[in-house]
Amino acid sequence: MTATYTFDVFCSLDGFGAASGDWTGYWGKQGPELLAHRLDLYREDQRMVFGANTYRAFAGMLAASAEGDDVRDPWVTRMRNLPTTVVSNTLREPLDWPDATVERGDAVDVVARLKKESPVPLRSHGSLSMNRALLAAGLVDRVQVTLFPVITGRTGLDPVFRDAADFDLELVEHHTLDGHIQELVYRPTLHT
Ligand SMILES: NC(=O)c1ccc[n+]([C@@H]2O[C@H](COP(=O)([O-])OP(=O)(O)OC[C@H]3O[C@@H](n4cnc5c(N)ncnc54)[C@H](OP(=O)(O)O)[C@@H]3O)[C@@H](O)[C@H]2O)c1
Repeated sequence: MTATYTFDVFCSLDGFGAASGDWTGYWGKQGPELLAHRLDLYREDQRMVFGANTYRAFAGMLAASAEGDDVRDPWVTRMRNLPTTVVSNTLREPLDWPDATVERGDAVDVVARLKKESPVPLRSHGSLSMNRALLAAGLVDRVQVTLFPVITGRTGLDPVFRDAADFDLELVEHHTLDGHIQELVYRPTLHT
């Protein structure tokens, strides 16, 4: 048995992972169903896997946050408390994260090993360049995209799949949340 690896990512309809301008977290479109669904997803026992940049971004946002900020939403708190592997050759332990270890080397090798050894499923949020490498290596079992109802042609940042390989996708699950957010779960296979 190998542990399932899920790449969990938020994006705009035009495929951006973030935006500049006056856009806020979740592009301002979150509602109670999305937040409850996110908490359900993270309630399960699992191990988080982050790229170094995403870890740094989360740790920085949490350090600068105040009560009521998006980054303190209950699912994020739950995510932060899960056992976590950060793949990095530049970060040093201890990390400012309750149960995190740094694994050196290439994420492709680290995740291939974790998939063999982990007794619980693996999940990554964001970590765009790391997950593009893992997709190309065939290590991602599920791509879980939360599609927010916005187009950010002028302000979009971080194109989620830019420079990724080509994939065929099998839709395995889908949910509509708060009437306008789509969560789409796909099984990817390299398009050859
Ligand atoms: N839309 C969303 O859901 C969402 C959520 C969170 C974050 N984000 C965005 O994600 C972005 C961060 O992602 P990112 O692409 O900049 O970095 P990342 O994937 O978080 O981290 C990249 C780092 O991971 C390490 N790494 C190890 N093996 C790797 C491999 N095979 N390929 C790539 N990296 C590997 C390297 O760290 P070392 O250099 O230390 O070795 C590398 O510099 C931020 O801009 C943030 O806004 C999006």
